Amino acid sequence: MSTAVRAVLLAAWLLASLAGCKGGEVDQAYPTRPITLVVPFAAGGPTDVLARTLAGPMGETLGQSVVVENKPGAGGTIAAAYVARAQPDGYTLLVHHTGMATSKALYKNLTYDPLTSFEFIGQVVDVPMTLVGRKDLPPGKLGELIAYIKANRATLNFAHAGAGSVSHLCAMLLQQALGLELTTVQFQGTAPALVALVGGHVDLLCDQTTQTIPHVNGGRVKLYGATARSRLAALPDTPTLQEGGLQGFEVVVWHGLYAPKGTPKDALDKVGAALRAALKNPAVTQRLVELGAQVVPEAQQTPAGLRDRLAAEIEKWTPVIQSAGVSAD
Ligand code: MLT
Repeated sequence: MSTAVRAVLLAAWLLASLAGCKGGEVDQAYPTRPITLVVPFAAGGPTDVLARTLAGPMGETLGQSVVVENKPGAGGTIAAAYVARAQPDGYTLLVHHTGMATSKALYKNLTYDPLTSFEFIGQVVDVPMTLVGRKDLPPGKLGELIAYIKANRATLNFAHAGAGSVSHLCAMLLQQALGLELTTVQFQGTAPALVALVGGHVDLLCDQTTQTIPHVNGGRVKLYGATARSRLAALPDTPTLQEGGLQGFEVVVWHGLYAPKGTPKDALDKVGAALRAALKNPAVTQRLVELGAQVVPEAQQTPAGLRDRLAAEIEKWTPVIQSAGVSAD
């Protein structure tokens, strides 16, 4: 083979290798630098707590740090849009919850499609919510609270983390169940909403146990009810909202891990394996159980498990949101 032919073949091989490494493929060494895990709500809130609980153990398995970055705003849709258009190289991931399923019905002009703009890595945990109030709110029990809300609907307010957040979904369902409208106060996550509640600046908040349990135990907020179908193992003395007479009331928040569409399978497989290893780590599971979260069965900690859940939840929530006439636009 002549030198000229060799040079042409070498150049062609080099070009092919370079093309092969562009979006859609990674080299075998992935990950070679820190991975960013984007959280769509403010630091210190339930989604953030979950992300930070997973980041350390996942980083250990992957041999690189997993750095949590908060991109709050517009009920989680700013972060989801950011990750949807990020480089699909395995270095930008998104942890998100039920809001991924409700955003499509709430926002007319989303720049991404929850079902087609992402790669699915796996479901993580299910987390029930609690209805909490500022600690000097007069009612002591759930039944009294419901009567109090009805009597004071003109002055009470309800905090939430924006249309697309689960605190908003829960507040919307509660108002619908009670047949009334309260003033709502929007925050960039339930961490700042809870700070406002503890400070007595807002009256009510519906939030995931992963954030409320420590504040309930610390006596900083008043706990009225749980949003699961049956009482929570972490809060056995707390009635469900159904027990309070709100028939069928149930909001359990589910969480998943996503990557931009086109992320190489090799990277997705490695991140998925790291997620499943973290969810088996006894220190992680103990922490999650203490916070009232339930690790989903292993079969759901998979791309198919997450995709199916998202599709089912879009089906579930879209008619509810449409019939409530709620829109973020
Ligand atoms: C929500 O209400 O959607 C979340 O609790 C927001 C958060 O994680 O701060």
